[in-house]
Amino acid sequence: MGETIIPLADLRYAAAVPRVPAGAPAPNGLVADRLGRPLHDLRISVTDRCNFRCSYCMPKEVFDRDYRFLPQSSLLSFEEIRRVAGLFVAHGVSKLRLTGGEPLLRKHLEVLVAQLAQLRTVDGRPLDITLTTNGSLLERKAQALRDAGLKRITVSLDALDDAIFRRMNDVDFPVADVLRGVDAALAAGLAPVKLNMVVKRGTNEQEIVPLARYVRERYGPRVVLRFIEYMDVGATNGWRMDEVLPSDDVRKVLQREFALEPLDASAPGETAERWRYADGGGEVGFISSVTKAFCSDCNRARLSTEGKLFLCLFASRGHDLRALLRGQRPDGSAWSDADIAAAIGLLWSERDDRYSELRGAGQAAALSGSHGERRVEMHYIGG
Ligand code: GTP
Ligand code: 5AD
Ligand code: SF4
Ligand code: SF4
Repeated sequence: MGETIIPLADLRYAAAVPRVPAGAPAPNGLVADRLGRPLHDLRISVTDRCNFRCSYCMPKEVFDRDYRFLPQSSLLSFEEIRRVAGLFVAHGVSKLRLTGGEPLLRKHLEVLVAQLAQLRTVDGRPLDITLTTNGSLLERKAQALRDAGLKRITVSLDALDDAIFRRMNDVDFPVADVLRGVDAALAAGLAPVKLNMVVKRGTNEQEIVPLARYVRERYGPRVVLRFIEYMDVGATNGWRMDEVLPSDDVRKVLQREFALEPLDASAPGETAERWRYADGGGEVGFISSVTKAFCSDCNRARLSTEGKLFLCLFASRGHDLRALLRGQRPDGSAWSDADIAAAIGLLWSERDDRYSELRGAGQAAALSGSHGERRVEMHYIGG
């Protein structure tokens, strides 16, 4: 049976209802895709809304008052998210990351964290549960999240300078509030705290050293600052290669001020290349998906707010798991956990996505045009 493509009610992205294979073996935590990559991380988007309008993600001209975000009825409920997450864990997932939009805009998120914290990996260990936030609501929420079982947290922070920060979030949000959020996360025991800085040439490159210095002096090794190459994700940010500052250049800027030494990866498939300050001042990371693609061991699956599975950040088609969660077998009964797990296993085993590598090899134009479909947006799938 082939996959049926169903149009979405709101025509957002094409999505296929996954095929449920008959007689599939029970998941054993060892599923691998066509390129031999295991399934390790599940990134779960809990809302497509955000209170910021970073131009590289949700440019104001597109995401204005008329933009229609997903209606409440489309969102997966916490119970549905927990169920799907459990099935991914059965296939080997050991890290869950909640994303958005801005995940802290989802009401009672700590309730979901508490539910997810109950899950155990196939070999009985607690999961690595984390969250990527813009930090605007973090001061208020850090303790409740920690109490619910969140282990660590990642905060997006593109500048230390208030004027540049306000310009980049494009809603005039002050940097001081985010910095207080970072303090609150540390005080609540979330560790490590990672800070993600998207570096855009001509916009915030002058912030590289001040931010690094601030983090070293104020926090030392408790906070890891990571520099992200501006990516051509989605279809609305007007991405241009000349606005990308390659990680090698960022590192050279840092090395004019601080002595750095390379570190080994802490886990296979990691996004960041790790370096440490030679004087023990902590660690920094470089995420270089434009200049040094890391698809060859990409072990991340992404679940959208309305339950669509995306196998690559640059995909234009999802796989509608919600249709299985809420739908019925041909005989009218509900799909079982075993059915949905089998569908997920089949999807992963057929995965061959490696967009960034192909872009690097100059083949991306052919790829993105292949179905004439829009690529998924970052605010929808959470990066
Ligand atoms: P850690 O577990 O803390 O290392 O987190 P992470 O790096 O997996 O996640 P995070 O949300 O901090 O992502 C950092 C940046 O890397 C974001 O800009 C993401 O969009 C980008 N990123 C994460 N995963 C991928 C990926 O699979 N492909 C590409 N191209 N970029 C990714
Ligand atoms: N390029 C690189 N990183 C991006 N992010 C959002 N859009 C882009 C882009 N176009 C980052 C956010 C956040 C993470 C989830 O993704 O700043 O840190
Ligand atoms: Fe900015 Fe993150 Fe919001 Fe996108 S989701 S607009 S990157 S804060
Ligand atoms: Fe993974 Fe796709 Fe990113 Fe490559 S481009 S690392 S396959 S999500």
